[in-house]
Amino acid sequence: MIGSERFRTHVCADTSDGEGQQVRLAGWVHRRRDHGGVVFIDLRDRSGIVQLVFHPEQAEAHVAAGHLSPEDVLSVTGTIVKRSAETVNDRIPTGRVEVAVDAVEMLSEADPMPFPVEDESVEVSEEVRLTHRYVDLRRSRGLRALELRSRISSAIRGSLEGNGFLDVETPMLTRSTPEGARDFLVPSRLHQGSWYALPQSPQLFKQLLMVGGIERYYQIARCFRDEDLRADRQPEFTQVDVEASFVEPEQVYGVVEDFIVAAGAEAGHAFIAPFARMGWEEAIRRFGSDRPDLRYAFEIQDWSEQALKTDFAVFKKTVEGEGVIRALVVPGGGAEFSRKDGDDLVAEAQSLGAKGLVWVVVTEDGSLRSPVAKFLEGLDADLGASAGDLIAMVADEEMVASTVLGSLRARFPTRYRMEPEAEWAMSWITDFPLVDWNADEKRWDSTHHPFTAPKPEHLEMLESDTAAVRADAYDLVINGVEVGGGSIRIHDRDVQQRVFELIGVGPEEAEEKFSFLLQALKLGAPPHGGFALGLDRLVMLLAGEDSIREVMAFPKTATGSDPLTGAPAPVDTAQLDELAVESVAPEPEPEA
Ligand code: AMO
Ligand code: AMP
Repeated sequence: MIGSERFRTHVCADTSDGEGQQVRLAGWVHRRRDHGGVVFIDLRDRSGIVQLVFHPEQAEAHVAAGHLSPEDVLSVTGTIVKRSAETVNDRIPTGRVEVAVDAVEMLSEADPMPFPVEDESVEVSEEVRLTHRYVDLRRSRGLRALELRSRISSAIRGSLEGNGFLDVETPMLTRSTPEGARDFLVPSRLHQGSWYALPQSPQLFKQLLMVGGIERYYQIARCFRDEDLRADRQPEFTQVDVEASFVEPEQVYGVVEDFIVAAGAEAGHAFIAPFARMGWEEAIRRFGSDRPDLRYAFEIQDWSEQALKTDFAVFKKTVEGEGVIRALVVPGGGAEFSRKDGDDLVAEAQSLGAKGLVWVVVTEDGSLRSPVAKFLEGLDADLGASAGDLIAMVADEEMVASTVLGSLRARFPTRYRMEPEAEWAMSWITDFPLVDWNADEKRWDSTHHPFTAPKPEHLEMLESDTAAVRADAYDLVINGVEVGGGSIRIHDRDVQQRVFELIGVGPEEAEEKFSFLLQALKLGAPPHGGFALGLDRLVMLLAGEDSIREVMAFPKTATGSDPLTGAPAPVDTAQLDELAVESVAPEPEPEA
């Protein structure tokens, strides 16, 4: 990593045990301290930091050191010397030595920084950090994340190649692919009026590669989706995309587990495969979510039968209809739970789609505190709740009751400072429904994507009992984050046609959009299946970050813009003319 001796012979970290050696170092001025005569500079490069000392005897260097500012880029020559016992700094690996400098060369002078690099405790807004992301990356948090990401990618490649996967690139300029998000479009100059779409994933190409006999494909692929952004979503992101022929779900799990274990090892975690498995139905029933955080043991319970025996009209009527009563006991959640907290929780449940919520606190003396306590005798014993616990209950149709409590369950550990039972909890969620009912548009939508295969034994009920059809589709969930998903694909043209029809893609539309796929399915398509891992999300988890933006070199803000380059930005009318595209957008506001 040295580069040219013209600039350096060693990196900063190399100095830790090189006493007496003459070295040339290059890097950034991290910090400067003047100690009446002697000047100390902390010099920083990617490898770390070392202290430079400038003694007045080396007059020229000493004078130069007096004029240095933070983040100037220097090359220095000097001798590694041992520090005296009382000046040893145990917090850095080079803390037992320093470099006595005899010459300094300024390589690049820095203006005052937009925010300090050296003092990482100074909080900086994300807008400012991203505008000067190259300064931000000099802080250890950004550098550590990129180093980890690079090692993880490399470990994943090694694991996949060890398992016989070929790295194949697929096009960025392509046709719209159906992952369910909005496409980013690129106008064609040579075919005016026609548009490329940036891939939402390499889904169809990887299937075509299977028809092409590649058998095992992988790619660390950039994907583009024009959707509303959140902490774990970006408009462009990276997938570890895999596909294999002649497999059933088991073999896909094995390959993915191998590379997740390899990735974990890079972050110092010994993950153990095989990972847990849980059917989608069970996940919804017990945890109210298809990505349950299994680091926490609390589960949703059913209180429907007992509710029938109470005089509480809301509950009773719900169960007498088609509904259920579901309850979640939050260990320790009742300790400081006020009436106002109760009102807030009810409002929160309503915003999540519940009609209401009943909250109950089990007090220190074992009695129940709740607006409807008188109806709930024996509730704590039924649910196994004890003093200090909070109970949240929702009456509704099963899916609503479960998923509202599931959403709350995901928020409670932070809110009530619950201790996880394990540092890591990974689980495959399997057997997803093939399709979901879209009540707004009154039709079935693919739960995963239209190329996902129904379970073979459910094929015959595709049209007759559609809601009950399960797919050979699976997600991998780590600590409550969906890190990836995949499925066995349809490799039979007739089944593909039936699934298209089910989701309202008629023969004409299928022919127009997917004729290349349907054609391929007729020309010798092997059974195949695969998976795509959200690499940004995995690295985020392994780096202990809360947002994927922290593990991307140049992420976009929550509104999809890049404050560094100013993208997206208007383009010249001449450029648009060439593309035969006209903008009808209002003139953008001039920058303030
Ligand atoms: P899916 O759409 O589930 O499947 O995507 C797979 C994984 O990609 C990650 N991901 C994202 N990460 C960051 N920002 C986003 N906007 C974003 N969207 C998705 C998630 C997700 O689990 N072609 C199929 C896979 C297959 O069937 O093989 C697909 O793309 O971690
Ligand atoms: P109400 O009869 O609407 O005043 O509700 C009585 C209590 O039941 C209040 O505490 C409501 O928040 C609660 N409640 C109403 N509807 C539901 C529901 N579907 N599930 C759970 N609690 C409910």
